Amino acid sequence: MTKTRVLTGITTTGTPHLGNYVGAIKPAIEASQRPDVDSFYFLADLHALIKCQDPKRVQQSRLEIAATWLALGLDTDNAVFYRQSDIPEIPELTWMLSCVCAKGLMNRAHAYKAVVAENEELGHQDMDKGVSMGLFGYPVLMAADILMFNANKVPVGRDQIQHIEMARDMGGRFNHLYKGQYFTLPEAVVDDKVEVLNGLDGRKMSKSYNNTIPLFVSEKKLQKLVRKIKTNSLEPGEPKDPDSCTLFQIFSAFASAEETATMRTDYENGIGWGEAKDRVFEYLNVHLREPRERYNALLEDPGHIEDVLKQGAEKARAEAQPLMERVREVAGLGRFV
Ligand code: TRP
Repeated sequence: MTKTRVLTGITTTGTPHLGNYVGAIKPAIEASQRPDVDSFYFLADLHALIKCQDPKRVQQSRLEIAATWLALGLDTDNAVFYRQSDIPEIPELTWMLSCVCAKGLMNRAHAYKAVVAENEELGHQDMDKGVSMGLFGYPVLMAADILMFNANKVPVGRDQIQHIEMARDMGGRFNHLYKGQYFTLPEAVVDDKVEVLNGLDGRKMSKSYNNTIPLFVSEKKLQKLVRKIKTNSLEPGEPKDPDSCTLFQIFSAFASAEETATMRTDYENGIGWGEAKDRVFEYLNVHLREPRERYNALLEDPGHIEDVLKQGAEKARAEAQPLMERVREVAGLGRFV
């Protein structure tokens, strides 16, 4: 059976939250259990340095993200799970790709364009104010992540589609220039069925909005956060609209179809916000309890996480090294004898 290779990276700058779980972690772990899928998941810690120069935060985030994926059931016999920074072939390939990537392509990258647009808006003289070479070349590093492992499918959020297109562009160009099939051209996968969860204030749950519910906070903290989810001023007894309600959306992302249907009826029958929040908290708390315990135990044992990631890196490098050797050779950087 030829397996589809699925690869995705997680930038290590934050603490995993409910939105990450529903939108990325859960579908990725499910995909890794399929017999026809070969999955590569990694901590994009070199990418983290582009936005975050706080070493403690980067380190803590790497640990939390690794512990989260393991606690939620990622089986590292099914998936290759590693840190980007443990694979020296990735920055090496980044350079090779940089040399075939038009600067003009990078000028069009939206992360870069957003900063330029902001500078323009603020009336700055220098349109590149605050733009590091890391930010500017971010899509090249991402292309190296993907092309290094000949990924077929790359599950990402909508905002990342452009980067996958750019990876195709660079891979295709390299193949063409050096006349060979060195790289598989990847496809972005954006699953419309996967829900984008809203946060405490009703906007998309995102660390940049500071409206997240972290997955593994204490019971008390979880209760406090659920109580903070924005609702409206309808009184108990008044019918409520589940479809425009963040609380309901969060509940339904975790609950079964029947449980969701029951809650829907309760909304229509005018459940009070206090009661609805208590029920959502209880539900989340019960379902997160076990993985939370595993998560806390993992954080107490960083040596174990280190070992798991080191083994992942070994598996990843077993593929990266031969490909990188071929790439060096074809570009004229092979051995003399
Ligand atoms: N840039 C991605 C994000 O911010 C993370 C990422 C880095 C990634 N390298 C990748 C995703 C390779 C998919 C494939 O979400």
